[in-house]
Amino acid sequence: MIPAVVIANKRDRRPLSTDEINFMIDGFARGSIPDYQMSALAMAIYLNGMGDREISDLTDAMIASGSKLQQAGDSPRVDKHSTGGLGDKTSLILAPLLACCELHVPMISGRGLGITGGTLDKLEAIHGFRTNLSETEIHRQLEQVGCVITGATDTLVPADKKLYGLRDVTATVPSIPLITASIMSKKIAESLDALVLDVKFGSGAFLGTEKLAEELAASLIRIGKLAGVNTTALITDMTQPLGDMVGNACEVEESIAILQGGGPVDVRELTIELAARLLICTHREQNLDDARNRLGKLLDNGAAMDRFERMVQSQGGSLATARHLGRSQTFLAKTTGYLNAIDGQLLGQAIIAMGGGRMVAGQAIDFSVGLRMHCKIGDALSEGQPILDVLCDDQAKVQTALQLVEQAISISDAEPTRPTLWRDFSIQ
Ligand code: URA
Repeated sequence: MIPAVVIANKRDRRPLSTDEINFMIDGFARGSIPDYQMSALAMAIYLNGMGDREISDLTDAMIASGSKLQQAGDSPRVDKHSTGGLGDKTSLILAPLLACCELHVPMISGRGLGITGGTLDKLEAIHGFRTNLSETEIHRQLEQVGCVITGATDTLVPADKKLYGLRDVTATVPSIPLITASIMSKKIAESLDALVLDVKFGSGAFLGTEKLAEELAASLIRIGKLAGVNTTALITDMTQPLGDMVGNACEVEESIAILQGGGPVDVRELTIELAARLLICTHREQNLDDARNRLGKLLDNGAAMDRFERMVQSQGGSLATARHLGRSQTFLAKTTGYLNAIDGQLLGQAIIAMGGGRMVAGQAIDFSVGLRMHCKIGDALSEGQPILDVLCDDQAKVQTALQLVEQAISISDAEPTRPTLWRDFSIQ
């Protein structure tokens, strides 16, 4: 097979055959297809798209570049994938919560991407917490604790790691077929029975519009089903941060508050909704209300927190070592009115400017940096009322962050509609 012919086929809008896809991905993973040919193919896919059969083949080819997590034990294996959003810390709560329901949760997570924070970065704000577990350690912890949150091993879908790096620098990240294969290859390689997807839209998310989020959700569900994974999805709002805290150490604190039965209602509600879908898919509960009640009780009675502590301990972390939060400086409302809109991209940039996210790959993160929100869209504000706190010890960085925050916040005279946090999404 000739790589340039495969690229030309996609350039000219012809569907690629299974063999062509296998040839390109296998060759790329092994190094016989160079980056420039893979980049050309990625751009052709970005421009001309792929049908479901091609996306499914691409997903399978990526999985075949490594090895799947072995199935073990009798407990159903479940996971959640979020497309990422400002303040999204649901993974930290959901994994131990589901482990309390005799489910195994082998959550392979990532680092921050663009303006959205990463679960691994958040967990590393916990003193000693390891996110580089081996496959043997993952299996041992699943048996002993029921949940694990760690980074991809070297053998889990190596083609995705390589292709993602290439897409990042060739303007080919926002392609539904490429995103679908990237996400689903990693999830299918976990050997899951059920998966719930949190597909987010809005300024604080990776996809700006609800329509794009629906398109991605449909594609992810179709590929999950083709792979035999019971896959459901919620479309969720990210026109404002989830919860009060945005950052790393401060999001760990907020997650602990939820795990102890408190914390902001939106984080608790969304976590319960996502987890409830998995209790239904695995027949742990027959209806959503029973599932919600069961999960709420596990947060309120300390069982989920206990499981979280066991997970942290098993991964070398210590919750007893205090996590430092940066010095707090409050941003006040400039006028009286309603909180009308929050530009999540600018808030994310404020976090990055303070060192709480990365400007270049591999950059060390300042875990102490963050934002504490005091209001939600639709809240009435008086001039001088606190809207949010910037958490950071470095005064020069605080000034940069405050300028971005000022641009990000809009106050209106008319009362805006409050956003709806989540809705179910299904395909025929
Ligand atoms: N997350 C992934 O894992 N892959 C993508 O392509 C985009 C988001």
